Amino acid sequence: MRTVRVAFGERSYTIWIGASALRRLGEAACSCFPGGRALVVSDRNVARRYGPAALASLREAGIRAELLAVPAGERSKSLAQLSRIFDRLASLKLDRGCGLVALGGGVIGDLGGLAAAIFLRGIPYIQAPTSLLAQVDSSVGGKTAVDHRLGKNLIGAFHQPAAVLSDIASLDTLPAREFRSGMAEVVKHAAIADAALFTYLERNAARIQDRNKAALERVVAENCRLKARIVEKDERETGLRQSLNFGHTLGHAIETLAGYSRRLLHGEAVAMGMAAAARLSCGEGLCPKGDVKRLVALLERFGLPTAMRRPPALRQLEGAVESDKKRRRGKPRFVLLERIGKVRYGCELSSRGWRTALSGRPVKG
Ligand SMILES: NC(=O)c1ccc[n+]([C@@H]2O[C@H](COP(=O)([O-])OP(=O)(O)OC[C@H]3O[C@@H](n4cnc5c(N)ncnc54)[C@H](O)[C@@H]3O)[C@@H](O)[C@H]2O)c1
Ligand SMILES: [Zn+2]
Repeated sequence: MRTVRVAFGERSYTIWIGASALRRLGEAACSCFPGGRALVVSDRNVARRYGPAALASLREAGIRAELLAVPAGERSKSLAQLSRIFDRLASLKLDRGCGLVALGGGVIGDLGGLAAAIFLRGIPYIQAPTSLLAQVDSSVGGKTAVDHRLGKNLIGAFHQPAAVLSDIASLDTLPAREFRSGMAEVVKHAAIADAALFTYLERNAARIQDRNKAALERVVAENCRLKARIVEKDERETGLRQSLNFGHTLGHAIETLAGYSRRLLHGEAVAMGMAAAARLSCGEGLCPKGDVKRLVALLERFGLPTAMRRPPALRQLEGAVESDKKRRRGKPRFVLLERIGKVRYGCELSSRGWRTALSGRPVKG
């Protein structure tokens, strides 16, 4: 079992990472939920596989717990499902000493986390992430949200969990495509801030794809540590945390144009966005060609797409990029690559450059 401490003063917490982390749920809940009661929120896929073990661990530790399962998928990040959780929390008469456990992927972490952020003006919650994306990314940093018809994650709050339990063994049952999609965020973390992790990924790609437990434990722990060090310095994304958006300005635009369908997973869009951002960086004279090649090669080794087969029309793409909620003073901002392990955030660029970069063709400087 590895641990990563996330330092937020009196809101500090520990991330437990290992092949049996979920067994510690009861013990963790005892220290996080003094009221002795909990609601476990999950989706139907995950609840079927891991719900019974989570409830058993809580009950053995003397926590009175119930399970609420929502349908799997992004569509559950809605006000309707949030309202169902409130109905259940209210009818259980949970007080502020009781808590919520978010057992599932990023959808459940975001939905459950937001419910915990606002029910009774905030109750404690434990993240028990079961997808690779949730273990390396969404369970760390305290961002919670549901979607609005007009945009993803428009309704949300910052609410740090009281503990995170990342059970590596649960990744065994994750569908292959979801696993690959999670690897995009892993490659992103290495590319923006950790050249040594990037080299480790290059050397161990086969073991990681085989879901070797020791390799995954290391990958998850290093990603959590890296993201923790960034969000501790900039919880509210006024500066450094923006570097985590590498590949996301274009990635979100690609997702918007695809209509959030399951035809394209988040990590797949981000992989294309990162490859494009790296080509753009090279075109701006910021990053050596060799580093763009390494990034593209690593994404491809993990089975991720690095160029759009049919790039959208420039006007469509501009519209999607400009509707990005992270734009500042009306202008979209990009995170550019300086070299593997270092990025520059807050960059403004011409729209013609983004479109060319998406097609995979090298951009002229
Ligand atoms: N809060 C943040 O900082 C942050 C960061 C990145 C992404 N996100 C959000 O995360 C969401 C995406 O997360 P995701 O990719 O985990 O999606 P998800 O939660 O929909 O999970 C993907 C699929 O895998 C299934 N699944 C999860 N764990 C499983 C397991 N162990 N075995 C079998 N099936 C399993 C789920 O049921 C689902 O069908 C998006 O909504 C995104 O906005 C949030
Ligand atoms: Zn992402």
